[in-house]
Amino acid sequence: MKKILITGGNGQLGRSLNKLLKYTDAEIISTNSTTLNICDEKQVDAFVKEHVPDIIINCAAHTAVDKCETDYDNAVRINAEGPANLARAAESIGAVMVHVSTDYVFDGDTDKAYVEEDKVNPQSVYGRTKLMGEENVIKYCSRYFIVRTAWLYGEGNNFVKTMLRLAESNDKITVVSDQFGTPTSSDELAEMILHIIPSGKYGIYHGTCEGQTSWYEFAKKIMKFAGKTTEIIPVTTEEYTKAVAKRPKYSVLENAKLNSMGEYRMKNWEDALEVYINSL
Ligand SMILES: NC(=O)c1ccc[n+]([C@@H]2O[C@H](COP(=O)([O-])OP(=O)(O)OC[C@H]3O[C@@H](n4cnc5c(N)ncnc54)[C@H](OP(=O)(O)O)[C@@H]3O)[C@@H](O)[C@H]2O)c1
Repeated sequence: MKKILITGGNGQLGRSLNKLLKYTDAEIISTNSTTLNICDEKQVDAFVKEHVPDIIINCAAHTAVDKCETDYDNAVRINAEGPANLARAAESIGAVMVHVSTDYVFDGDTDKAYVEEDKVNPQSVYGRTKLMGEENVIKYCSRYFIVRTAWLYGEGNNFVKTMLRLAESNDKITVVSDQFGTPTSSDELAEMILHIIPSGKYGIYHGTCEGQTSWYEFAKKIMKFAGKTTEIIPVTTEEYTKAVAKRPKYSVLENAKLNSMGEYRMKNWEDALEVYINSL
């Protein structure tokens, strides 16, 4: 029986992993920022040495993309130094480390889906600090999986919930129509992570639902699946002035490595979204 340590266990992905792992014979140690602060090197080291997990899955992150722009020190601590602490601790006991990263490590200045080996060039504090996290994991841990995902939604705050909340009190919502990516269900991502771990094929993976869309089309689909009549109005990135951090225009990720491994595919984003909205 495998022992799995989950950090950030109360976040969207953390909750999805906990849900899935309940049905396996794995022993789960799920932690949150109170029970295990990944930024505290000594605490991480002591915790890992006490529990000796076989696998560490890091779901903890500073995910508030705009806030990161003015909260640089915390973003570095959580997104870069935290993964380094976990990677060093994992290596010290011979554990496998799974670290989750983002499409925002790319600049989005393309019209072709990114594969794992493509050149990174983050444009925001969030993207830069997440890239530092990737680099630290590679530097300190020999058996690692880095899984880049995008536009995640699950149990927590996310775009789908925001759209549904806004639809309660608005007839019209303006949404950016010239940024493209792939909405991804955290349940789908959790399943993908548990699928790749036994392969032992370490390295960087892209893990998003299949297909691609814009935030505008995503919002329209949310309204459709939720049976709402709220009108979605497209705006350009230039017209939408509320975003602080620069977002990539086109950050579609191709799950090249995952799809080369066999039959397993992540769900199409529309199918996964429908499942999610029906579950709310
Ligand atoms: N959300 C997205 O759209 C998106 C897109 C691309 C990639 N990702 C990546 O996917 C992963 C999972 O994202 P998510 O949406 O599930 O995140 P989330 O819901 O925002 O959860 C992140 C969790 O990190 C925890 N955390 C923050 N600081 C911590 C610390 N110092 N020590 C331990 N835990 C800490 C928080 O715990 P507390 O609540 O206890 O503070 C929170 O539960 C992250 O690596 C993220 O960068 C997310």
